[in-house]
Amino acid sequence: MGFDRGDGGAEGSGGCREHSVRGARVLVFEDSRDACREAAARLVEIAREAIRERDKAVLGLATGKTPLGVYAALAQTHKEGLFSFRNVTTYNLDEYYPMSPRDPNSYRTFMHRHLFSQVDLAPNRAHVPDGTVPAAFADETGAAYDRWIEADGGLDAQLLGIGRNGHIGFNEPSETALEEALRSPTRLVELDVMTRHDAAADFGGLEQVPTRAVTMGMKSILGARSILVLAFGSNKAGAVANALQGHPTALVPASLLQTVSERVTWMLDPDSARGLDF
Ligand code: GLP
Repeated sequence: MGFDRGDGGAEGSGGCREHSVRGARVLVFEDSRDACREAAARLVEIAREAIRERDKAVLGLATGKTPLGVYAALAQTHKEGLFSFRNVTTYNLDEYYPMSPRDPNSYRTFMHRHLFSQVDLAPNRAHVPDGTVPAAFADETGAAYDRWIEADGGLDAQLLGIGRNGHIGFNEPSETALEEALRSPTRLVELDVMTRHDAAADFGGLEQVPTRAVTMGMKSILGARSILVLAFGSNKAGAVANALQGHPTALVPASLLQTVSERVTWMLDPDSARGLDF
């Protein structure tokens, strides 16, 4: 175990230093590829245990460049015959809105390419929020998404990345009161300008980036029994420091993870960790 000892933390498994920051485990890996492999190994371990205990595992998944190595490692583990997704159900965090699942920029396409088509996950158990519902019904459909998660027994684990503005999923910075933000459901949201700028290259220009998205709300995310947050690179250092060492506030959505810190593990590289005061 690692502690706030002011000496750089303890030696963790998989070539990392382990710290504790306000009750959250913070693992700093020299190489982000090792962090991804370790995150995949933990997800498999959590899933195996859940399958042993209740015959199924429910994993919350994220998109973005950060978790690509996790999906590559999960696909590899499956190909080597070491883990089957037969008894796994997945719930992705978010989808652009409006968005066809077949669009090359949809998160459904992303997940299909990087994970769903690589493993034996059943198509009716690989869930991504629906970017095709009429806007007037998007919140209703979002509430149903939360009910599906609940009916599946809740998330055994949730994998998260973080936006430069501290968003998780597409829960964007807002003035919402803390209690309300903690209870937020899956819903239609407006994207922050920084988020749209960061997605501009993928869409071939800012104008092409949707202005809205459907995101899993904080309630389902925070309800996960284990939360793994990945962040790599110096452009995430400010968001990571605010999330871990600032006050919990909806202005930095990732800081809301402090309210369940005993279930949270951050997996960082030295660049994303450099704003932390160990
Ligand atoms: C998007 C996703 C987030 C993700 C973030 C960071 O906004 N909705 O879930 O964490 O991007 O992406 P990247 O990992 O590419 O930096």
